Amino acid sequence: MSIPEDELNTVAFEVIDGIAWVKYNRPEKRNCQSPKLNRQMLRVLDELEFNDDVDVLVLTGEGDAFCAGMDLKEYFRETEVLGMGGVRKSQREAYGWWERLRWYQKPTIAMVNGWCFGGAYGPLFSCDLAFAADEAQFGLSEINWGILPGGGATKVATNLMNFRNAMYHALMGENLSGKEAAEQGLVNESVPLAQLKERVIEVAKNLQKKNPVALKATKDVVRRVSEMTFDNAMDYLIRAQEAANSFDPVGRKEGIKQFIDDKTYKPGLGAYDKSKQAS
Ligand code: ACO
Repeated sequence: MSIPEDELNTVAFEVIDGIAWVKYNRPEKRNCQSPKLNRQMLRVLDELEFNDDVDVLVLTGEGDAFCAGMDLKEYFRETEVLGMGGVRKSQREAYGWWERLRWYQKPTIAMVNGWCFGGAYGPLFSCDLAFAADEAQFGLSEINWGILPGGGATKVATNLMNFRNAMYHALMGENLSGKEAAEQGLVNESVPLAQLKERVIEVAKNLQKKNPVALKATKDVVRRVSEMTFDNAMDYLIRAQEAANSFDPVGRKEGIKQFIDDKTYKPGLGAYDKSKQAS
């Protein structure tokens, strides 16, 4: 079945120098997440995940919003009239692409260029790193229109923020600037909007220098170990490294060789030269 144009257009993307720029593309609706957008986003993620031209994926928004949360009309009102089946279907479409992004093959960066509300916290957390514009506004606005922060948003807030800040953020419905979001742990850093893309490119270029198997293994273990006991984590990390070795038997050996034998780099100061590595 062919996909209608107005669904395809909800997401824009392009790949430039190994960076996939994926954009929420409903600026006139402040990039809120409708069922159409959620379906299209999963298709785009599918298309890019194992594309050899893509090293890093950046999620951002067209216009002055990153994402104004769920579409109150199309995601809530219009699915509720369809009953439980309609509601569950649209939840699965949304949560499905957030989960795919959470365990994505490539490293991912959220570039929060503007408004970021409620349902946008799912994809925000799914991205491995997050950079915001000082001018961006972050809010759990659910309380302002009468629901609790669902769709994982409460879990995201409590994972990323301390208890008092998460509680205040969820109860008060007040927004945080990019700088405040960085101070409270929602994003790594905040910079003026005019410098945001440049900073994200700098980070992406750094990631591009790293061993891709090690990157995928590392991003997964950082997410997993936080839920484990210390001993379980120790054991899991041994097994995760051994599993990664089976996908890349040479990388770490080359990394050791270039430091110990060739003396061409220092791991404490940067990455080894992947181009010299036999595949
Ligand atoms: N759902 C549905 N429509 C939306 C949403 C949304 N989340 N956000 C914006 N829109 C629509 C508006 O209804 C408006 O549509 P119209 O042009 O047909 O009237 C259009 O986008 C532009 O929005 P404005 O409000 O005019 O834009 P403005 O720049 O003045 O304000 C702001 C931006 C603050 C983001 C405002 O749109 C807003 O408060 N949006 C809702 C944010 C929100 O609370 N999201 C839900 C979080 S809870 C959750 O996700 C579960």
